[in-house]
Amino acid sequence: MNEASNPKIYPPSNDFVAKAHVGAETYETMYKASIEDPESFWGEQAKTRLDWIESFTKVKDADFTLGKVKIKWFEDGVLNVAYNCIDRHLEERGDQTAIIFEPDEPGDGAQHITYRELHEKVCRFANVLLAQGVMRGDRVVIYLPMIPEAAYAMLACARIGAIHSVVFAGFSPDALANRINDCQAKVVITADTAPRGGRRTALKSNTDAALLHCSDKVRCLVVKHTGDQTTWIQDRDVDVKAMMAEVAPDCPIRPMGAEDPLFILYTSGSTGKPKGVVHSSGGYLLYAAMTQELTFDYHDGDVFWCGADVGWVTGHTYIIYGPLANGATTLMFEGVPTYPDASRFWQVIEKHKVNQFYTAPTAIRALMGQGTKFVEGSDLSSLKVLGTVGEPINPEAWNWYNDNVGKGKLPIVDTWWQTETGGHMITPLPGATATKPGSATKPFFGVQPVVLDATSGKEIEETQAEGVLAIKQSWPGQMRTVWGDHERFEKTYFSDYKGYYFAGDGCRRDADGYYWITGRVDDVINVSGHRMGTAEVESALVAHAKVAEAAVVGYPHEVKGQGIYAYVTLMNDVEPSDELRKELEGWVRNEIGPIAKPDLIQWAPGLPKTRSGKIMRRILRKIAENDYGALGDTSTLADPSVVDELIENRMNK
Ligand code: WT7
Repeated sequence: MNEASNPKIYPPSNDFVAKAHVGAETYETMYKASIEDPESFWGEQAKTRLDWIESFTKVKDADFTLGKVKIKWFEDGVLNVAYNCIDRHLEERGDQTAIIFEPDEPGDGAQHITYRELHEKVCRFANVLLAQGVMRGDRVVIYLPMIPEAAYAMLACARIGAIHSVVFAGFSPDALANRINDCQAKVVITADTAPRGGRRTALKSNTDAALLHCSDKVRCLVVKHTGDQTTWIQDRDVDVKAMMAEVAPDCPIRPMGAEDPLFILYTSGSTGKPKGVVHSSGGYLLYAAMTQELTFDYHDGDVFWCGADVGWVTGHTYIIYGPLANGATTLMFEGVPTYPDASRFWQVIEKHKVNQFYTAPTAIRALMGQGTKFVEGSDLSSLKVLGTVGEPINPEAWNWYNDNVGKGKLPIVDTWWQTETGGHMITPLPGATATKPGSATKPFFGVQPVVLDATSGKEIEETQAEGVLAIKQSWPGQMRTVWGDHERFEKTYFSDYKGYYFAGDGCRRDADGYYWITGRVDDVINVSGHRMGTAEVESALVAHAKVAEAAVVGYPHEVKGQGIYAYVTLMNDVEPSDELRKELEGWVRNEIGPIAKPDLIQWAPGLPKTRSGKIMRRILRKIAENDYGALGDTSTLADPSVVDELIENRMNK
């Protein structure tokens, strides 16, 4: 019997339940209320959790019908996100730490930034942006490492009503340029260099390279973080810290409509270039705040650590917006789990007495591989809740996390959500939900998941079901549109299954109504918890002069979850070689970033195609998985012999 059909069940302890915000009964009543009367439920939540400049009269206006998709929450309400994350806390908790910054080098010492200090820094940063002519609605690209200035920059945008778009600092100059151009940013904010794991990434020189492909009107704001030398372009580059010291320490907030965009975050899909996911000011912030408090059972005075990078949505929602809206203490970590050694996470938890810790299964697997000695030496007694995100967690990793970090006593919340959803969608609440390792369990308030039959698109009514995961009703944290392309938004999420938001994941629902996410059902792969469009890697490969054709699929990878497997057909006159393989790896790294580098490249004299020329990925996936025994029907192939050749020379033996 497998884990799913007969899993071990872990109920919350009585002690935990006694102190929890939400217990099992409260969950049931609140969930029911949130589905039966979403208007009252969310209206109430929005009034109690956020401060409004002008209250809303309308709670929800949403339509999932293809051709007229519309998602609006609290639309006539007026608020300011930075005010909600900073100013309103000043009176009560001005001297409380808002952000703990833990630098890459443990010896460099942590910084504790109070709410009052955060207020001043954000105001000064906002004044710097205003001085550069950034106005309400303008786009600001942020290409920064995990340093406090990243938080200041995001909140400064929110303060003046500019729309930020954070680009992960691991992305290449090309990827950065594409994003700056797609959202027509007025400024890009970067740093000289970014230390990570004892090495340094040259962010400013990456930005210089990117800006060669952008309008020469784009200004470049540089945070001198390490003091490393960089080139400096007069009239374009601005020294942020120097300017922050000169401008006024106060800056009025800009009243914003609840539906005004707060940020754009680019994410990969199954086709074409990354899309700009647009999130709102009111609904997003409410959803971030509520999920941060309830999923992690955060209490006043706790220290919360989300180990993601601000370049991903997890960092936006659970390092910055959720915790700060709740007046929490949030930890920002510049480094990596294995530097100076594999005890770093646990050392940071001990040092800052972290209460809730949130990371990805891939990080757990990487640390698991180093043995338990690194975790044994640290005092982890401050921990109350553990979380995971990014991919389904395998039982070995779950058990290791539970035994060695949770000491068998802590609730583990496995949170399923996406860049598009703004916050947790299917997740245990630690005081309410008995967990089953590998299951994201039950929906959050207001979320109505359904399992659809993949071919007919019909909702499966029985509790036990298997199919694709879709969501029936809007929730406040839902993305509003794709930047500049509402049609693409409708087509991507609302056209395959009419009337639903289609997430792109497959799932199973067990007899207890628990959801088990089974992975993407489209051409998106999940590499170390990061989403990668196979089409994106393919187009990077075929952009190389020696490559005629490429097909990319995922395959099971011990640490990353999925690895990138590329089949490459070379130009007629080109000989395959190990040097060329290295060259192509480096090429993709440069085109997209290190996370997109193929793990395995197989030379493919031919690819399996149908007579109409369509590549049969199903077959390529099987070969990459080293599971080519049952390839299924290959009779529609134009030339079945290519398959034997590919099997013979497969890389994952
Ligand atoms: C995809 C979204 C938003 C978090 C970071 C990734 C997969 C995410 C889980 C989980 C199983 C998960 C899904 C989803 N995923 N969390 N707990 N269990 N799968 O954000 O880059 O937008 O990717 O990550 O496949 O669709 P993202």
